Amino acid sequence: MEVIAAASRRQGSHGDMLSLSAGQPSTPAPRPVLAAARDMLDREILGYTPTPGIPELRRRVAALHTDRYGYEVDPASVVITTGSSGAFTALFLAAFDPGDVVALARPGYPAYRNALAALGCEVAEFDPADRVRFQPSVADLERLTAETGAPPAGLVIASPANPSGAIIDAGELADIAAWCEAHGTLLVSDEIYHGISFGRRCASAWEFSRNAAVIGSFSKYFSMTGWRIGWMLVPDDLAEAVDTLLGNLNICAPANSQFAALKALGPEAARELDGHVERYAANRDLVLGRLDELRLPLVAEPDGAFYAYVDASAYTSDSLSWCREVLDATGVALTPGVDFDSRDGGSTVRISFAGAGGDIAAALDRLAAHFAR
Ligand SMILES: Cc1ncc(COP(=O)(O)O)c(C=O)c1O
Repeated sequence: MEVIAAASRRQGSHGDMLSLSAGQPSTPAPRPVLAAARDMLDREILGYTPTPGIPELRRRVAALHTDRYGYEVDPASVVITTGSSGAFTALFLAAFDPGDVVALARPGYPAYRNALAALGCEVAEFDPADRVRFQPSVADLERLTAETGAPPAGLVIASPANPSGAIIDAGELADIAAWCEAHGTLLVSDEIYHGISFGRRCASAWEFSRNAAVIGSFSKYFSMTGWRIGWMLVPDDLAEAVDTLLGNLNICAPANSQFAALKALGPEAARELDGHVERYAANRDLVLGRLDELRLPLVAEPDGAFYAYVDASAYTSDSLSWCREVLDATGVALTPGVDFDSRDGGSTVRISFAGAGGDIAAALDRLAAHFAR
């Protein structure tokens, strides 16, 4: 967020900022969504909806899971939330008590750590043995359990992950889900980047365990970040608590976003959205093709999402200051690794390729010229 503020100051003062730091698509919501939202303003009262969401959207999200992964979902298990962020807050509150140990792989999305810490949970960050994708395995969970003396109350995983884009292997996810079931560990599977992948399959935790919580979002593939709409597939034993909490925390997700999101799930939107994924794939090739020249080797395999997580140790061990310097010198905004990895993030940086191809190429040219000096 500091970098985003600095980037917008740069744009204000110089007008030349190029962002490789955005954690969101550079495109608006799909056209049918925009049309539906306009229409709804005239047609609907847009008051509170039922807390878990309008029934039609719950049905359509359930059907999305059947289409994508082949498993059946009872729409009663789907709750619509204010982005996936709203789902995480309600789920963590429902599932965990102060002092509970919740495990997270390093590097990872910082909001899990921050939200869990704010709730008084003990966040157990661990280094996965997998040094290619940095995704957890059963061996990691066994090691952590031996170290802490008990299985964790929860495990939060993300695939594709932020900042790395790495996708967890389906077989490994199956093993993790089985281990979590056997050890009473709540598996929280962040699947919000599903739909944006480059050849490797994104498996869903509900293929393997209905005790897991699956989190989805309209923010990334569906290009609707500011509409604040996401969803969760809730395990039966947490359904009542999640519903009560959401009723108190949010009452409901934004009504217009819910009606409009129905259109995001249709074929016309899919054509537009798949076009964005093709652009991300081309952008990814562009970025990966320049990393050697930039002396920024990949830390992990960018299988999905729109990020490359790179090692900047050739330049810095203080990535936050370095990103500021690079922004000042070139107008290119990068995201320092410090938030994703509080231990090693001083020498890592996240490059986002969510933007327009021309802007990304121009940003890479500026970086190359700057580093060559
Ligand atoms: C891994 C991950 N999970 C969750 C979120 C939150 O997304 P939202 O609340 O917009 O669904 C983000 C946002 O960048 C993310 O990268």
